[in-house]
Amino acid sequence: MKTIKVKIPATTANCGPGFDSIGIACTYYNELEVTELDTDEIQLEVSGEGEGIIPATRDNIVCQAIDKVFERVGHTCKGLRLKMENNIPLARGMGSSAAAIVGGLFAANELSGSKLTRHDLFELATEMEGHPDNVAPAIFGGITVSIMEGDKPSYLRFMPPKPLYMIVAIPEFHLATKTARSVLPIQVPREDAIFNLSRTALLVTALSQGKYEYLSQALEDKLHQPYRMPLIKGMEDVVPLAKEAGAYGCVISGAGPSLIAFAEKNPDDIGQAMVKGFNQNDVEARYVVLQVAEKGVRISPK
Ligand code: HSE
Repeated sequence: MKTIKVKIPATTANCGPGFDSIGIACTYYNELEVTELDTDEIQLEVSGEGEGIIPATRDNIVCQAIDKVFERVGHTCKGLRLKMENNIPLARGMGSSAAAIVGGLFAANELSGSKLTRHDLFELATEMEGHPDNVAPAIFGGITVSIMEGDKPSYLRFMPPKPLYMIVAIPEFHLATKTARSVLPIQVPREDAIFNLSRTALLVTALSQGKYEYLSQALEDKLHQPYRMPLIKGMEDVVPLAKEAGAYGCVISGAGPSLIAFAEKNPDDIGQAMVKGFNQNDVEARYVVLQVAEKGVRISPK
């Protein structure tokens, strides 16, 4: 029986001011193997993140993505065997749901004769995720700028010209994206909109030109972080400690609760400082040092 294996990068979205638009693929991966079965069952093997939590039922997010493609291309499938090796923690702002969706969509497309293009799959992934900022880098790699035109996403991607460390401090607690979005205001003052759009433009320019010293200003945000900060215990200490340890800036990764610092040197000092900031608020945390992943999802027949 044919088995498809896909490797999907973690992603960080928003990057401060670029709410629902900017995303970065990170060198941290989930692997997924999908095999079609002749019998009407779902077999699931999970190692790493999500073990014992992801349900072995057809309504888990990977199966939903697989069925979305099969339905679109008219492919009938009885059962599935899924094997997941997950590094990306669930509900921590590192793109675990985007990785699950993208992994399922790309594996299903390959199993059913590759009838859909990468862009078709980008549209389906955005529809499932609700916004394009995590799924774009998960698919295309690098740093992505995505927009919505009605319900259709489009994007541009680039690689920064020189290495950049992204230090992610991952606290032990979860924060659902839905909860983190529920605290955001519907309307914002015009000066806050101007504050963010000017910084988003500066952020993209600084990243694309490797002028990372501008990141300290370019990572500032007024559209989502002030409202989300109360949901992330320890954030008010982690951010200044990361900067004191040499980071250009430190922001919420996606919808949180992980916090991500950007730096060119001393990533371990920064990571340790960030963990200390969480710990002094009685929050257990760990950190990982990542870089920008050039490639998005990769497929290999097994
Ligand atoms: N842009 C999204 C948010 C990313 O901040 O809510 C989370 O998926």
